[in-house]
This record gives sequence, C-alpha cells and structure tokens, in this order.
Amino acid sequence: MRSWQGAGIWYGADYNPEQWPESTWVEDVALMRRAGVNLVSVGIFSWALLEPAPGTFDFGWLDRALDVLHEGQINVDLATATASPPPWLAHRYPETLPRRADGAVLWPGGRQAYCPSSPVFRERSLALVEAVARRYAEHPAVVMWHVSNELGCHNVHCYCDVSAAAFRRWLGERYGDLDTLNDAWGTAFWSQRYHDWDEINPPRTAPTFANPTQQLDFLRFSSDEQRAQLRAERELLKRLAPQPVTTNFMIGTGIKYLDYHSWASDVDLVANDHYLTAADPEAHVGLALAADHTRGVAGGDPWLLMEHSTSAVNWQPRNVAKTPGQMRRNSLAHVARGADGVLFFQWRASRAGAEKFHSALVPHAGPETKVFREVCRLGADLKAIAEVRGSRVDADVAILVDYEAWWGAELDSHPSVDVTYADQLTALHGALWRAGVTADVVHPSADLSGYKLVLVPTLYLVRDAHADALRAYVEGGGTALVTYFSGIVDENDHIRLGGYPGAFRELLGIRTEEFFPLREGERVTLDDGSTADVWTEWLHPAGAQVLASYADGPLPGVPALTRHAVRTGAAWYVGTRLDHPATDRLVARLLADSGARPPVDAPTGVEVVRRRAGERSWLFAINHTDTDARLAVTGVELLGGGRCDGELVVPAGEVAVVRELSERREIVVGKKELDRVNLTVEGDR
Ligand code: GAL
Repeated sequence: MRSWQGAGIWYGADYNPEQWPESTWVEDVALMRRAGVNLVSVGIFSWALLEPAPGTFDFGWLDRALDVLHEGQINVDLATATASPPPWLAHRYPETLPRRADGAVLWPGGRQAYCPSSPVFRERSLALVEAVARRYAEHPAVVMWHVSNELGCHNVHCYCDVSAAAFRRWLGERYGDLDTLNDAWGTAFWSQRYHDWDEINPPRTAPTFANPTQQLDFLRFSSDEQRAQLRAERELLKRLAPQPVTTNFMIGTGIKYLDYHSWASDVDLVANDHYLTAADPEAHVGLALAADHTRGVAGGDPWLLMEHSTSAVNWQPRNVAKTPGQMRRNSLAHVARGADGVLFFQWRASRAGAEKFHSALVPHAGPETKVFREVCRLGADLKAIAEVRGSRVDADVAILVDYEAWWGAELDSHPSVDVTYADQLTALHGALWRAGVTADVVHPSADLSGYKLVLVPTLYLVRDAHADALRAYVEGGGTALVTYFSGIVDENDHIRLGGYPGAFRELLGIRTEEFFPLREGERVTLDDGSTADVWTEWLHPAGAQVLASYADGPLPGVPALTRHAVRTGAAWYVGTRLDHPATDRLVARLLADSGARPPVDAPTGVEVVRRRAGERSWLFAINHTDTDARLAVTGVELLGGGRCDGELVVPAGEVAVVRELSERREIVVGKKELDRVNLTVEGDR
C-alpha cells in the first residue's frame, strides 16, 4: 500500500470552514460522518486570512478547524494556501500582477492574480508554505499536502516584463546561443533574426501571426513556470513534513496549456479535477476520456479525483443540474477507471462570493435534499467497494496524447481552422467507449509493448524518438492507426520534408503530396458509403493496401483509408474526418485486426471496466441507458446485489461492482486457439 492510500477509498470535498461561524463546523463534522466522508481539502483560498499582513500569521482559526476535524476522525489534505495571493501583495508589489498579450493588467478581485515568474510572488508564497508546513507537519489530521490549486488555471500566460526576462533565461538554457535559437525559430523568415537576447519578447500582440516556434516555446516556458512553483513548494514540504504531496491537475476540462505528462514526477500521487460539460448529453463519455488520460499521466497507478460536482456548476452558460443517479454514476465511473478517491468542490454551498450557485455536498436547502441523500448513498457505496483500492485498470488499447502536439496543431496560419487536436482523440476514444473497450491515454514515450492496439490521433508534432517507438511497436506485431495531420513537423515546428505525414510516411506506406481541406460544411463520400468532412489529402499508396477511396469531393478515386502490413504488425492511416458511424466501423475493424476486446460484452451505453490486483479482479458496470442490462458475469456484487452466477442484471441508470470469481481465458499456442477453459481464480475470500 502506498502511503497516501489510507484504509479505503477517499471520500470528501474542499472544505472552507473560514466561510462559516465555528458553530457550523460541529454540524459539518457530524454530517460528514453521516455521509461517510473521510478526507477534506482545507485552506485552499486562505492566504489572506492566514497572513493578514506580510510576515504576520494568524493560525488560530485553522488550528481549531483542524482539531474539530480530527476529533471527528476526518482526515485533512492541507493546502499550502498559495492559490490566490491576498490583496496586500498586489498593493505593495504591483509588479506581481500578470499582463495579457496586449499589455492589459489582470487586477486582483478575482483569484490567481499573480505573474507566475514573479520572484516576489515566489518568495512570499514560499514563506507562507514554510509557516504552514512548520505548524502542521505533525498534526495528526493531516494526511497529505495540496500545493496551490489548479496551477495555471487563470494565469498560465503572462506577458509582462518580468515574464519576458524569465522567458529569455529559459531560452538561454534551451538553446545556449542565439544562432541555435535563430535556426530553431526559422528567423530567416520575415526579417526576424535576433542579434541580442534582449531583442526577444514573449509573443505579445503583433500586427500579424507571431513566429510559430516562438509561440510554441512560450507555451513550453509557461507550463514550466507553473511547474516550477509546484516543484519549489514540494521541495520545501519534503524538507519540513512527512506527508505525500499532490496538486490538482485539470485533465480533460479543455485546459490544454499545462504539460501534465512532465509534471507527474513532481507529485506523490496524481490528482485531477473534472467537471462535466452540461450542454453535452454524452458528457459521461468525456468523463471516461478524462479519467483514462489521468490514469495515463499517473503511469497506470491509482489516482485521486480531487474535485467534481454533486450537481450543477456556476461557470457554464447554462448550469444544468445532475439528474438523480447521475452523480453516483459519474463518481463510480472515475473509480472504475482507476481513482482511489472521490472528492468534490465543495462541502457546503457558499452564501457569498462568485461560486454561491455552485452545487456542494450540503446544498443551501440543507441535508434533507436529493443531493445530500445521494451523497450518503455514495459514501456507503465507496465503503462497500473499499477492497478495490490499489488495484489497476486493464486496458488493451493505448491512445497517444502529447500536449506539445496539441499546442503545435492549434497554432495559427494552418491549412484549416477546423482541424482541432482533441477532435480525433475524442472521436476515437468515444468509438472505443461505445464498443466497451478500455484505453489508456498515454504519452508517446510510454511503453507500448503490452497493448494490442495503439491509436495516434492528430500527432502533428512528433519527436524522432517517439516516431521510432511507434515503428518498433508495429514491427513487433502491434496494430496502430494514425489519423490525418500527424507526423507533420519536428519539435521546432519545422516541416518534415519529402511528403506528408513526414515522420510516419514509411511506417504507413503512403505519401501525401498536398492537403485538400474542405470548405465549411462540405462533406465527401467514400466508396464504402462512409461520409466525412473537414479534411482530405492527395495521398499515394507506397506499399499500403487501399481500404477506401473518395467517391466524390475534390479528390475522387484518391485513397482515404489504408493499411500497411509491416512484418507481423499493421499500420493503418485515415486521411479524412470520418463521421461517427464510420469511425465506429473503423474502430470495430481495428479491434478485430488487433484482438483488443471489451472486458465483457455489454450493450452500448453500459460502461464496463475491469480493475485488477494480481489474481483478483473487479468488474464495474455502469448503466447509462434507460433499459436494464444483462451481462455474463459471475461473482459477488458488492453494492448490495449479492452473488451472481453467469448473469448480472444492471438496472437502468444503476451501477454494479462485481468481485469476479472466474473468468474465461483463452489458451493460445502460436496463432492457433487450442482450447478454451474456465479458469477459476480464488476471488471470494
Ligand atoms: C475548480 C476550482 C475550485 C472551484 C471549482 C468550481 O476549477 O479548483 O476552486 O472554483 O472549479 O467548479
């Protein structure tokens, strides 16, 4: 057991006792115990109260709050409280305020109004971390540290003079000398050659497109600056306190500017915040993608869902409430996909402030509510499945994701604004979801050898080593699919010459000579009946077999879908944006080609995921449909269902978690299936 994992599944919320009189704290703890809450994040936005004036600390209220929680046996994930500086910081040190690309200052009054490169902010924030860590390192309630909060959520890109100087230093370390930088940035173009480091600025608002490599490096630098704050706080905490350290990532909420793959090594456990997009009726599919990506960032280890919502949020245009049962399905879907904890924003709904209409565990209407009843039910559920803690998720498929490729793909002055990075990622992951197949969403540097199928959506920017790794995977017998606008540039955003998709041309056995993006709303038909939009390209097979070609559009007769047999593996390519049914059919063919399978067969809309620890395994089945589902499962259903023998009924809208007693395994010798046996594993102990 890893030190952060505690005795079961963590359950709780952000808790902001400073917003309430102390008499409410007692009721809070009683309700937490009723609900089965065992972990709360405290102090996240408390800097202004903890340090009312520079160097003057007031820990009285926090001492008392932690003691009340401890008496109630509620554990604490204690914040370093650096998430949002107090008004006095900007008042005394206006140079700590961030600036936008056009020079506008972002003033205090909201949150996170600080320049991430500010040495003043760094010094003052670390002084606070030190004071908090010294005071509470030994507190028996504190089981982990929560650095800042959603680093970079509002202030990731600062263009002020302090940031400009830090950017120059960062570039100096990356390139060493100006000639190398000029080469990497391609400054022979548009009279951009630099002769002095001081001539270089962040890509501030310019008359037209800024240099793309300058933009890309600024995005890298900005992610690194946020990461530097995490590392500085972590280093201090490690010196002063024994508890594990985490911070909440924002994977899957559309925030693309923080390279979490590179941050994972700076936390003892990966924690993530996830909020549904209320307008999306299939938001639970997006949730699955976020969870699979979080697990990928965590290297397959269990992770913590640090925040989600019991019902509506306050910051979308129309904040749709969750229907009965939806919060439970959402929560258990995260657990199915590797979370060992389910926490929310926030414990008690605020009376004042910008988030007063955000849902909480205890709503404004109090505990006699649908929400609090569901909170109590979920608490009981998590207790009932405590044994899954520490287990890992089975996945036959990997999807490669790289933040650098995302940044690069969405730079300006590209062939089509309709090509967005997350589009094919979402489409392919959604097709797998509908097929019931679990995918790990991993960085291109991950070990691919254990996967039956690897999907490579829109990997526009790819490093040589990562392209080589994909080739080795396919040559070793793997099946891969690459989608359009992949392999186009190197890490400096320079085109890979000789035909697209440069880095993958040989592996895929194709050569594209010209892109033919489609007009807005224009659709093409393929000779297998599929329709597609956004993108086509003039592709020549160079060893690959053509599986489908365009029947109309700008390129009739030109291949759109290909498969290249490479030794014992296969490399597929799709050169257009297939519609959903066609994407589902393509994924079905890839599953058949590769042997990747769902954990059990289930009707579409019933999410099935298996977690495993050695010989033991648990099957999660989440029924998102309005029809009862029957699955061929044998085991003990832990959420009150008892034994199931060959058939598990999951009622509409409900969830089942089965400790499996046996599973069908195929014994395969060479390529020939010799026998099928029913291996019974000792799971019912
Ligand atoms: C998160 C943030 C929380 C709260 C929440 C509301 O982004 O970490 O502090 O603002 O959103 O949904």
